[in-house]
Amino acid sequence: MDIRLIKNQDITPIYKLGKKDFGKNDEYSWDWSKKEIKKFLGKFGGLGLICLDKKKIIAFVLIGKTYSSQKPKTSWLRYIFVAKEHRREKIASKLLDLAIKKLKKMGKIDLEADIYTENNTSLKFFKFHKFKVRESYFILLRKIK
Ligand SMILES: CC(C)(COP(=O)(O)OP(=O)(O)OC[C@H]1O[C@@H](n2cnc3c(N)ncnc32)[C@H](O)[C@@H]1OP(=O)(O)O)[C@@H](O)C(=O)NCCC(=O)NCCS
Repeated sequence: MDIRLIKNQDITPIYKLGKKDFGKNDEYSWDWSKKEIKKFLGKFGGLGLICLDKKKIIAFVLIGKTYSSQKPKTSWLRYIFVAKEHRREKIASKLLDLAIKKLKKMGKIDLEADIYTENNTSLKFFKFHKFKVRESYFILLRKIK
């Protein structure tokens, strides 16, 4: 297995990899378009890594190098995903470890992630990697009539 930085030509395959789970409650998937991924990696200077198995992309991580201008040394893990058939093979762990090494070199001191409270799998994953729950919050919605 190979891990490398995301290139432009990887955007469609990573989009497709995540897309089949969009909107599924059990996957807590994201809803980014290809355009957004491109913008995130380009204009916003996001850090993106992929893992390949025989040239096929099977996992990726997308990290915002800087959380905000108020928190310039904090990075923000936006999404990490491993194809179902490859889970529990420590692939996400390898992606995260490499990303952290890169962020450290850039002078970053904190990495923030947010997950849905019921996403137990990823909560276990992040706790395994020494993340601590700092705060939990509500997402509120109302109809606008
Ligand atoms: C969360 C996710 C990225 C983990 O990927 P993974 O490659 O399977 O994780 P790893 O194999 O590196 O797991 C490392 C450790 O995390 C914990 N962990 C991971 N998945 C787990 C699970 N299903 N149940 C319990 N613990 C789990 C374990 O402690 C594991 O170590 P172990 O296998 O030695 O016990 C993957 O399940 C996924 O893609 N989920 C859907 C997308 C998602 O919810 N992403 C998070 C939102 S940002």
